[in-house]
Amino acid sequence: MYCEILSTLYVKSNGDIPCHDDYGERIILTNLNESPTIDKIIASKQFNSIERRLSSSSIPWENICDKCAFFRPDQNFENRIRQFHINKIQIESSLACSLNCWGCSRREQVKQRRGNLLLDLKNFETLMISCAEQNYNVEWIEYCGQGEPLSHPKFSQFLKIVSEVLPNTKQRLITNANYDFNACIGEETLHEIIVSSDGASQETYEIYRSGGSFEKCIRFMTDAIRRKSANNNPSVVWKYILFDHNDSDEEITKANKIAQTIGVDRLLFVLTHSKGKSKRYTNENFINILNLAPSALINFTPIQNSDTYLGYPTDNSLPDQNKEQFLFCLDEIKMLDKQHLLLKGWVSTLDFLKINRLNIVANSQSVGQINVSEKRNDVLQYFNAKGDLDLGFASVIKTTQLDPNAILCLEITPQSFSKNFDTKKYHVSFKPLRLS
Ligand SMILES: C[S@@+](CC[C@H](N)C(=O)[O-])C[C@H]1O[C@@H](n2cnc3c(N)ncnc32)[C@H](O)[C@@H]1O
Ligand code: SF4
Repeated sequence: MYCEILSTLYVKSNGDIPCHDDYGERIILTNLNESPTIDKIIASKQFNSIERRLSSSSIPWENICDKCAFFRPDQNFENRIRQFHINKIQIESSLACSLNCWGCSRREQVKQRRGNLLLDLKNFETLMISCAEQNYNVEWIEYCGQGEPLSHPKFSQFLKIVSEVLPNTKQRLITNANYDFNACIGEETLHEIIVSSDGASQETYEIYRSGGSFEKCIRFMTDAIRRKSANNNPSVVWKYILFDHNDSDEEITKANKIAQTIGVDRLLFVLTHSKGKSKRYTNENFINILNLAPSALINFTPIQNSDTYLGYPTDNSLPDQNKEQFLFCLDEIKMLDKQHLLLKGWVSTLDFLKINRLNIVANSQSVGQINVSEKRNDVLQYFNAKGDLDLGFASVIKTTQLDPNAILCLEITPQSFSKNFDTKKYHVSFKPLRLS
């Protein structure tokens, strides 16, 4: 039994450290004022209780974990935080926001929570220093909570502290981007910026992003792209949640055109469960959006709250009727060292038929294969798929041919389906991914 809380931390603006940011958020493990350093946080009573229970295959919180996106009852126990590895520390620098999006729980949280709306910079610095002094490998700091991160008047100081104290840690900002880029970020380093902009014009955008300015979003993205460093940072993602009011062909085509004109790295369309959600696009036909925005990526609102993208066929020789044959999500991809590539995710046909193997291609050369043999009940449940299909993979490929800058292509070359498929037809390559 496993839960991502053993490899992530979430710090709220008032210093509370909840049990991640989904259903478990209602349980506060400790607070930065009581436990200002990483060793104190993981020594807290609540955190120890989670470790004890998961390691003995017991649910940490009855009636909570089973509703939480981060709980993995079928995955083997591992305790990465005790091995000095943290995938992500999520920081809610601010619970304040000047917009009023109807699906956002921010206003409720302001009423319910005690303490500050702005995270104390000194407390943040103490936590970062403790991670550095205790030799933690922190992969990402992500600035996102229930408010708008950039509404913290000293936001750039957070970035500065991390660059100085944990220079190998990457930093990601998730923002409504109604701010001046240069004033908020200045010269500080960011590796990824996700801009929430749900529309392709002020009229459609402001229906959900009430009080917001579409023009400011575009200017923010343009300025961020201008500031890219030699290694292409920050990567700029335009995240577009699909609602009834912004899912017309015209809007999507327009968003695609603007995204290409300003040069965003990814235009990412997302399905939501919120009021007003798109009726045109659902799990079943979501992939059709790529006919209007061929270079976009699409993302089902979290199966896991990590980077989970749906790949799609790029092979033009593929007959049209075969173009929608695969669902493919990567939850994690990274080089562990120069020779080892870690890949985690899941793959299936749209009919939930089994694919046995994936072929990994880097710079057009096959570098290895992975077996698709892991249970992923979360995916099956999400799609209401029946049966006992193993559609997950979690594999480390050993290869001497990969350099960290290789353009990676993942190909589904199904040697055998469980039904009668003509395997030659279904050789499908996916959008290239850059390793980082
Ligand atoms: C609560 S917001 C806070 C950060 C920032 N203020 C923003 O709006 O991006 C965090 C994330 O929730 C997403 N979000 C907001 N409303 C949503 C909805 N109705 N459905 C799905 N995701 C939503 C945003 O796109 C953003 O990625
Ligand atoms: S901009 Fe973000 S924090 Fe502000 S109301 Fe909208 S979703 Fe919530």
